[in-house]
Order: sequence, then structure tokens, then C-alpha cells
Amino acid sequence: MVARSTHPLLPTPVTPPAGQAFEQLSATLEARGPVVLPALLLCDFGHLAREVERLEEAGAVGLHLDVMDGRFVPQLTYGLVVVEAVRRAAKGPLEVHLMVEQPETCIADYAGAGADIITIHLEGFSDPRHARTALQQIAALGARAHLAISPGTPVDRAEPLLDACDGVLVMSVEPGFGGQAFDPAAVEKLARLAALRAERGGSFRLAVDGGISTKTIGLVAAAGAELIVAGSAVIRADDYGRAIRELEQIARGAA
Ligand code: DX5
Ligand code: ZN
Repeated sequence: MVARSTHPLLPTPVTPPAGQAFEQLSATLEARGPVVLPALLLCDFGHLAREVERLEEAGAVGLHLDVMDGRFVPQLTYGLVVVEAVRRAAKGPLEVHLMVEQPETCIADYAGAGADIITIHLEGFSDPRHARTALQQIAALGARAHLAISPGTPVDRAEPLLDACDGVLVMSVEPGFGGQAFDPAAVEKLARLAALRAERGGSFRLAVDGGISTKTIGLVAAAGAELIVAGSAVIRADDYGRAIRELEQIARGAA
């Protein structure tokens, strides 16, 4: 595994190497079934470290970070400096969901900032060969390479890239905002990806992001989702622990 690069503007990462975090996450998936990854998007950024601590104490086995550049999607959220701050506060693995134009230009920086999973959008590339190169770049930097597909992108477009993916993230809302309604078309996409994986003996993980709640999590878990991102369903709950436990219990009952 290649050592993490360090961005010149960032301090040296102090966390354990990415591989260790994956082993923990994989072991949890094998032992307990699907997991919820809370998305920080709607959390209290004025008390970021406290929010990270609260989520991990509440049982979150990993966190999902939505990086938006105001161009690939309308909203501008945060970038490297915040990811690095979360990395310092968190013990568990971080998924960095890049909703940015030209993601290939910043992959090395996010790997250096401590991302354990880097998720890039297929729609960010005009040529799928460039998406393959970017996925390979992520893997070479020691992070897990996940490919996201937006609601309008059929699974068929991702199919030629599956061998280069450690995971596929099916978006069940248009990327850009938290708190949107779940698009049920994601269920069929997850089931199709699970079937393709079984046919080919692939090992990529199935992930889903957007509109997850106690009403929708059973549907995606039954279709094969393993890494289930939940933003508002956790962050808008008074008790993070209760929200995560309830969601995971439904997911595990349905998987
Ligand atoms: C949307 C983001 C999601 C968002 C999920 O573009 O990718 O990760 O934070 O929020 P909910 O669960 O509220 O849809
Ligand atoms: Zn996301």
C-alpha cells in the first residue's frame, strides 16, 4: 500500500493507516450486516468535533462527508480543511463523497487528508476511461474507490467499471442537498448491481445515499445495500444513538 500523501497546507495525518479502518468496517459488515453511515451535512458545524464524538459514541461505525463545490451541484459545502478536522476528531473510517467537477484533480489531497473511502461520481467524467483512471488512482493511494451514480444514470453505464470499484453508491436523491425524498428507483438499481456482482463473483460493496429513513431503509437493505448513508434521519433526531440503532435494526431485519 502506498503511504498517504500530505497536502502542503495540511498537518501530517495522525490517524491509523486506511487499511486498518477498512478491516474494522468489513468485520462489522460480516458480523452484523448492513451499517448506517451518518452524513454530517446537516450537523452543527459550529461544534464539529463534538458532533463527530457524539455520532461515534452513538454507535456510528463510519462517517459520510459531502464535499460539494457549487458547480457539480448547486450547493457549496466544505473541502479539505474540514475533512482534515473531522479526521482528527474521528476514530472510525471516513467516506468522502466528492460532488465536484474534475474530481481527479483533488483525489490525492483527500487521500492525504485521511479519507478511507473516496466516492466519485460517474457523471463527473465525459469519458468513462477517465473514471477508471480516477478509481485506480484512489486505490493506488490506499483508499477504497467507490463510484456513485445519480438517479438519472442507469446501472448499465457503471457496469464496465465494476471491476475497478471497491464499492458502488446508488444515489436515491439528486445529489446536492440533505433532507430530500427517497427515489424508489434506487431499489431496483441496487438489486441489479447485487445480481451483477453475484454473476461475476465481484466483491464491491453496495452503498446507498439519500432519503433514508425508518420507512425506506428496509427496502434498500433487502435489495442488498450494505453501507447506508443517513443524514437527516440521524442528525435531526434528538437521540443519535436511538436513531442509528433503530435504522440498523430495520436494515438487518430486512437484509
Ligand atoms: C446529498 C448527499 C447526502 C445527504 C443525505 O447530496 O450526498 O449524503 O447528506 O442526506 P439525507 O439522508 O437527509 O437525504
Ligand atoms: Zn452523500
